[in-house]
Amino acid sequence: MSSPASTVYVISGATRGIGFALTSLLAQRDDVLIFAGARDPANALPLQELAKKTGKVVPVKLEAANEQDAAALAELVQEKAGKVDVLINNAGIAEDFNKPVLATLPASFTKQFTVNALGALVLFQHLYPLLTKSASPRFFAITSGAGSTGSVALTPLSLAAYGSSKAALNHLVAHIAREHGEKDNLLATLVHPGAVSTETAKTTLEAAGIPLDPQLLNMTILTPDESASALVKLFDEAKRETHGGKFLSYNGTEIPW
Ligand SMILES: NC(=O)c1ccc[n+]([C@@H]2O[C@H](COP(=O)([O-])OP(=O)(O)OC[C@H]3O[C@@H](n4cnc5c(N)ncnc54)[C@H](OP(=O)(O)O)[C@@H]3O)[C@@H](O)[C@H]2O)c1
Repeated sequence: MSSPASTVYVISGATRGIGFALTSLLAQRDDVLIFAGARDPANALPLQELAKKTGKVVPVKLEAANEQDAAALAELVQEKAGKVDVLINNAGIAEDFNKPVLATLPASFTKQFTVNALGALVLFQHLYPLLTKSASPRFFAITSGAGSTGSVALTPLSLAAYGSSKAALNHLVAHIAREHGEKDNLLATLVHPGAVSTETAKTTLEAAGIPLDPQLLNMTILTPDESASALVKLFDEAKRETHGGKFLSYNGTEIPW
């Protein structure tokens, strides 16, 4: 089937934060169709409003790592578009910041691994056949600098469960890039979106006793819109040969594994 839009996107975790900013920005383009994942699409009001206003966004039920949701999404995309050009795995959770390993429950690891790493695996597995229908398939996984194993010794925060889950995501996407890069002309890469002032980032850090203050943290804090602009620029410029299988920051610089 031929696609009604020249570029078909799938974005997980599109209800708020970085995912919603990305969806809103991409929906300003001509000739795009965006399947936007939400755990509860009927109650994702900003996303529903965006869908109504633009006619280019299709809210879909997508719980991370839920095989049924991913299968239903693949069926819907097949029916409406026949391909996926750009898959953006953005949905993620961040819990137990600043908690030492001894105090972090195994259940916290399981939960964050399920959403942050298995979520990407299940989405990729179900959408892979549709990615192969694109002339230039792209898979961007939104990771975190916290997933850099090489930086753990330099980081003052204990982020064992969240960091391990993002390191697992990094490892997975490096495999996908190796297995499907040349074979399917697939660009698969990892992108850290920056430190972004989403509600979740604020509450997660505040729960750990750390205010989201650029001076205290000695880092640049981006708004969700600023992060989305930088990410979209990188998504547009990235090439398989130069960016595939890399762990990049939103500004295109490489982060140590
Ligand atoms: N903010 C930062 O500073 C920062 C830094 C580094 C990396 N990141 C990464 O960037 C991504 C987006 O973060 P954010 O700050 O924009 O977070 P956010 O504002 O909390 O948004 C998270 C999104 O993921 C969805 N989500 C959460 N749990 C889910 C699940 N079990 N299944 C499906 N969707 C789920 C949420 O949907 P609901 O509305 O249904 O909950 C929401 O759409 C995450 O992968 C995060 O790890 C963020």
